[in-house]
Order: sequence, then structure tokens, then C-alpha cells
Amino acid sequence: MVHEIALTIKPTLKCNMKCRHCFNGDDLKRVEMTGVGTVCQFIESACREYSDVKVTFHGGEPTLAGNAFYREVFAFQKQMIDKYHVRFANNFTTNGLLLDDELIELLVANQTLINISFDGPYHDFLRQHKERVYEKIGQVKAKGGRVRAFCTISKGSYEHLTEIYKWFNERKIDFKILPIEPRGYAAVDQELLMDTDHFIHVLTDTYRYWIKDRSCKIRFYTFEEFASLRRDTQFKPFWFHREIALNPDGKIYPFGRPNDVQFCLGEPSDDLRISSCFTSSEYERMLGILEKLRGEYCTDCDSSGVCNGVCICMSYMYVQDDALLRYSCNQSDRIFKAVLDINDEIINDFRRGETEEYSDTIKRKFGDIHKDGEET
Ligand SMILES: C[S@@+](CC[C@H](N)C(=O)[O-])C[C@H]1O[C@@H](n2cnc3c(N)ncnc32)[C@H](O)[C@@H]1O
Repeated sequence: MVHEIALTIKPTLKCNMKCRHCFNGDDLKRVEMTGVGTVCQFIESACREYSDVKVTFHGGEPTLAGNAFYREVFAFQKQMIDKYHVRFANNFTTNGLLLDDELIELLVANQTLINISFDGPYHDFLRQHKERVYEKIGQVKAKGGRVRAFCTISKGSYEHLTEIYKWFNERKIDFKILPIEPRGYAAVDQELLMDTDHFIHVLTDTYRYWIKDRSCKIRFYTFEEFASLRRDTQFKPFWFHREIALNPDGKIYPFGRPNDVQFCLGEPSDDLRISSCFTSSEYERMLGILEKLRGEYCTDCDSSGVCNGVCICMSYMYVQDDALLRYSCNQSDRIFKAVLDINDEIINDFRRGETEEYSDTIKRKFGDIHKDGEET
């Protein structure tokens, strides 16, 4: 029995920021807006079958749905808790511009993890309004909110990755990096893309710095994930049958990403069963395409044991073009290899008992590795 489901809800694809790299590309010009009634039907269908419901509000820019929309959705979640005894975990991914006191308080009251897209000192290379977004992060924190910066790194910033990490650490802002991918506008304007060799070099330098930085006061989500990677474990167990999305057109799709609109799984209704979306012919058709791609891309890839095909499957949800898929797969493969090599060095140090220099996070993550000869 599966208890968990992750819903992505995109109230609109419209956006009030003009990011040069956005994977939604010209879809941002679409004007549909999902009605709150449809959103509630979708949420209730999840509650009928699952006990842990993760909801991510995304877009486009989700704040454009307006505060009243979220007041209704969160009030409805409370009804669902009473009716089905479910647990909700809410995430809200926003550019931050329209976060006012009322919305922040509502999100905080509903224990929402607020992901604010913010690239630190290099924010204005891809986006606008650096100071305003930075202030919004401060406002969320001042109200006791859980905030995490989503920092996209691109040609305009990646050479400064260590500096970017220090910048977030000094300001005590948890963050995650999103390496730019050739999708949407970034697939057209390839000037924004990083040189992969150089990126891997900078990434490993920064990872090496972080693993020994005992002054780290923040959560650096990307590197925490790196530190959990092992050669004999899978990066992510498959996320099929665990995620499903509602798009602004009021229809259901596998992940709510630009290229999965070819697999419409239906519409919310009073008798919708999400589990039957996963057994529908369209979902099966998608799985068939992905299985074929894994056959093509993963067979000769050294990282496939760890990545388990997640790289190619996730990329296909954004783009279909072979060259773009190869770019993303190659970048992921190089990241896995570089990180696993460093993790091997850490493991060897731990086996020799040389743990002194490492940060507490690394000591915790590698805590099961003991000095040779000692009991485990
Ligand atoms: C598409 S936005 C949508 C939600 C909201 N409007 C926001 O700005 O956070 C979500 C995140 O995806 C990232 N993103 C968009 N296009 C990307 C690309 N081509 N490569 C990597 N990340 C990208 C953005 O930088 C942003 O942090």
C-alpha cells in the first residue's frame, strides 16, 4: 500500500518576471488560470487514496493566483484533514515579488516550505529585482517562515560558486543550486549555458571547500544530497506512480513539466482515482517511451547504476530533442562521477580515522564509516 503522493499544482503559467532562461519558454504567454474548485477536487481525490499528501504550488508564478485563492485552498486542506485524517506537506515555489504580509503569514501558518528563486549576488544576470527579492526572503524569515533559495547557476555566475556559497552562508540563507539546463529559452539562447568541464571543476572545488567548512551555518541542500551519494545506492528511487500534476488548463499530467503535456491523464472529478491515472494507457505509453530512452542512453553510461535513469527520464519531461537530452545526461554523469570520487576520498579518510578536518554534516553523513579494525 502506497501512502504518499506528491501533487504539483500550477494555477497559472503567467509570470511577472522575465527570466532569460525559463524552461517554460513562450508557454509563459498562456493565460489560463485553474479555478479553485478544480484544485480542491484534485486535492480531495488524493486524500481519498493517500495518507501523506505533498503539495507543491508552482507555475508560471503561483502568487498571481492571488491571496484569496490560497486562503480557500488552505481552508479546504483543513477540511480534508478532518474528513480523511491526512497529513499535508506544502511547498511554494515563487519569484517572491508578490509575497505580501498576508500571503507570507498564510504560508507560514500552514508550515509551507517557501522556495524563493534567488541567485544571490548574481541574481540580475538571469532575472531582475535582486534587492526586492532579497528583502522578501528577510520578511519570510522574520515571520518565522521556512525559506530556501533556489539559486540557478549559469554562465554569468558559475565561476563564482564558492563565493556564492559563502554569500548565502554569511546571510544564513538555506539554498539549493539549479545548474542551468538547455530548456525553453535557455535552449534557444545557448550563451547562457556553462562549459561543462569548467563547471565540474568549479563544482568540485566548492564541494571540497564545503565538506571541510566548519563555519557552515546553513543547509546547502545540493551538497547534502551529494554527501549522501554512494556507489552502491541509487540517487533517487523511481518517482513514477508517486507524482502527479494539475496544470492551468484544469487537466492532469504526469509531472507538470513542459514536455509531459503530451500525456493527458484526465481531469479532476468527484470520482477521480489518482491510482487509475497511473494505470491509464497514456501513463503506460509514457513509461514505454522512457524505457526505450533508458535503453538508448543508460546502457553505456557509468553513472546509470547510481542515477537509475532518473537523468534521462527527468530531462525528457522538459525537452525531446536528442542533442539537449545528451547535454543534460552528460552533465549529470560528470557530476555523479566527480562527487563519487570525492566521497571515496572522504570514506578513505574516515577508514584511516582522519575525520578531524571535516564539518559536522560530513561527520554525520559518513558516521557509519569506522576506522579500519574498529567495530561498526
Ligand atoms: C520555472 S520557475 C517557476 C516558479 C516561479 N515563477 C519561480 O520563479 O520560482 C522555477 C525554477 O525553475 C528554474 N529554471 C527555469 N528554467 C530553468 C532552466 N532552463 N534551467 C535550470 N533551472 C531553470 C528557475 O530559475 C526557478 O528557480
